[in-house]
Amino acid sequence: MRKKESLAKFATLSDLERDLFSDPRIYNFLKTAYLYALSDYTYIKRDMVEGFNQNLNEILRNIRRFYALKNRFEIKLGKHEVREGDARELQFKDGEIDGIITSSPYAIAVDYIKNDLHALEFLDVDIPSLRENMVGLRGEPEDKVKNYYVDMEKSIDEMYRVLKNDSYSVIVIGDTTVNGKRLQNNKKFIEFGEKSGFAFLKTIRRPILGGFARLRYEYVILFKKGG
Ligand SMILES: C[S@@+](CC[C@H](N)C(=O)[O-])C[C@H]1O[C@@H](n2cnc3c(N)ncnc32)[C@H](O)[C@@H]1O
Repeated sequence: MRKKESLAKFATLSDLERDLFSDPRIYNFLKTAYLYALSDYTYIKRDMVEGFNQNLNEILRNIRRFYALKNRFEIKLGKHEVREGDARELQFKDGEIDGIITSSPYAIAVDYIKNDLHALEFLDVDIPSLRENMVGLRGEPEDKVKNYYVDMEKSIDEMYRVLKNDSYSVIVIGDTTVNGKRLQNNKKFIEFGEKSGFAFLKTIRRPILGGFARLRYEYVILFKKGG
C-alpha cells in the first residue's frame, strides 16, 4: 500500500482528535499498532481498520499482563533509553556497560529488509544504506556468509570492549543451513568470544517451537569478561 493511501486510512481509523497525535508518546504508540496492521494487510490482506483494532487490543492486553506481573512480584523497573546504532561500532566508552543480552541475526537466514519492506518504506528509511549495514544482508550472495562472520566477530569484540570487568554477555543464536550446508554459528561465536578475551561459561540449547519454525534449535551462549 502506498504511503499516502496508508496515511489517509490512518487518519480515518477512529475519531481520535488531532491533538492526541501531537503527543509523540501517543503518536508512536499508535503508530506501532498501525505498522502491525500494515504487516497483516501486506501478508494476509486483513482489513486495515480491523487489523489496527486487533493489534492495538493485543498490545494493550500485553501491557496489562506485564503490569500485573510487575505488581505481583514487586518488580522495580529501571530507567530505559532506546538508541539506534551499529552493533559493530557501539557508541559507548570502554568498560561502561553492566551487562549485555542480545539476539543477533541468525547468519543469512532472514532478510529483515524484505520482510519489513512495507514498514521501512512507510518510515522513509534509506533502504540501500540499511542493507549495506545490516549484519547478514551485506554483499553479493556468494560473500554473504563470509561478511556475516566478519561483522559478528567485530560485534563480539565490541561487546567485550564496552563491558565492565566481571560482567556477563548473553547471546542467543540459531544454527542455519545455507545451500544444504549446516553453519554452526554457536561454535563460531564461542571461537570469536574467546578470541576477544571472554571466558566462555556455558551454552543452553533450546528447541524452537511452532509450526512455522525453520530452525529447530537455538543456543543461549553465556560469556564473562574477566574474573
Ligand atoms: C534475531 S533479530 C533480533 C530481534 C530482536 N531481539 C527483537 O526481538 O526484535 C536480529 C536483529 O539484528 C538487527 N541488526 C542487523 N544488523 C545490525 C547492526 N549492524 N547493528 C545493530 N543491529 C543489527 C536486525 O535488524 C534484527 O532486528
